[in-house]
Amino acid sequence: MSDKQKLVDVKNLKVHFPLFGGVLSRRVATVKAVDGISFSIKRKETIGLVGESGCGKTTVGRALVAILRQLYPDVEIDGSITYNFNGKSVDFARLKPRELRKYRSKVQMIFQDPFASLNPRMTVAQIISEPLQLHTKMNDSEMKDRVGWLLDKVGLQPEQAYRYPHEFSGGQRQRVGIARALATNPDLIICDEPVSALDVSIQAQVINLMMDLQEEFGMSYLFIAHDLSVVEHIADRIAVMYLGNVVEFGESSTVYYDPRHPYSKALLSAVPRPDPHRQRESRIVLEGDVPTPLNKPSGCGFRTRCPLAEKSCAEEIPVLEEHALEHWVACPIVKEKNAG
Ligand SMILES: Nc1ncnc2c1ncn2[C@@H]1O[C@H](COP(=O)(O)OP(=O)(O)OP(=O)(O)O)[C@@H](O)[C@H]1O
Ligand SMILES: [Mg+2]
Repeated sequence: MSDKQKLVDVKNLKVHFPLFGGVLSRRVATVKAVDGISFSIKRKETIGLVGESGCGKTTVGRALVAILRQLYPDVEIDGSITYNFNGKSVDFARLKPRELRKYRSKVQMIFQDPFASLNPRMTVAQIISEPLQLHTKMNDSEMKDRVGWLLDKVGLQPEQAYRYPHEFSGGQRQRVGIARALATNPDLIICDEPVSALDVSIQAQVINLMMDLQEEFGMSYLFIAHDLSVVEHIADRIAVMYLGNVVEFGESSTVYYDPRHPYSKALLSAVPRPDPHRQRESRIVLEGDVPTPLNKPSGCGFRTRCPLAEKSCAEEIPVLEEHALEHWVACPIVKEKNAG
């Protein structure tokens, strides 16, 4: 994979939401939804982003499509999200809205719930042509052709363009969502749990379609999921998140078969696998609840539930270090143990 060019480099990204309260609407607290994460995505690569509910996955996805400021004007974004668009370097964390408009079409998003994410009052043709109207100068007949072509690419009939979302099944609706995301030829598609609302039998079809489309068009995916077995299949590399931080990042098979961070080990031990390599390991059950990003523990966010925790873990948020070639882990204790 070393010959693949880097599409986006995320460095020390922080997304904090201030909370206001009282009669004077003073700032009373800060939700540290994403608290200093770094990872990169190469061209034509799929990164799996996994972790429990509330760890910040959707917030990372929204930061990468640069819609956070639009959704939450008070949001505080720090660090950098540097895209390489045809040799031009563009930081989505800093770009002014006017400038950003030029690049919006290059990063698209697919959502978890295909029932809620498609406007029920719009026909499929209108839904898919919306990004074309915003970002291209196509005329009506070009747009009609493009919509038909896109429907065909996602396995639907061009005649279905004039139907409404409620006339489709869940899997078909997600295909419409994919067609809309594909419309502007993006370099990256953020897929926020795109199959978790679908029946298991349909999940594989949608994932296979996404992989075929990637093969044909060469875009990258950031694939967000809870389900590690889904990600292992589709992702080239996996980033494991816990409470706003990435705790482990590496090649998919390495993270899946040789997890090093105690949290990744616990998360992976919860996945039922018919795989003979894994049968000897028993399930690790973590004690306690996930702390909230409103009141994070000092130092390592995982230390309150970690079987390896030591006093020193309260001091600093551990950074990702390369424990083996291209295998990054944020835990000095594990590093010490492996060295000794
Ligand atoms: N606008 C906001 N204001 C305040 N807190 C927020 C806001 N958006 C998200 N959060 C909080 O930030 C944390 C991360 O949320 P996020 O939705 O990114 O998590 P997630 O990993 O996608 O969770 P899930 O798996 O449930 O989708 C959560 O604690 C959430 O409550
Ligand atoms: Mg989410």
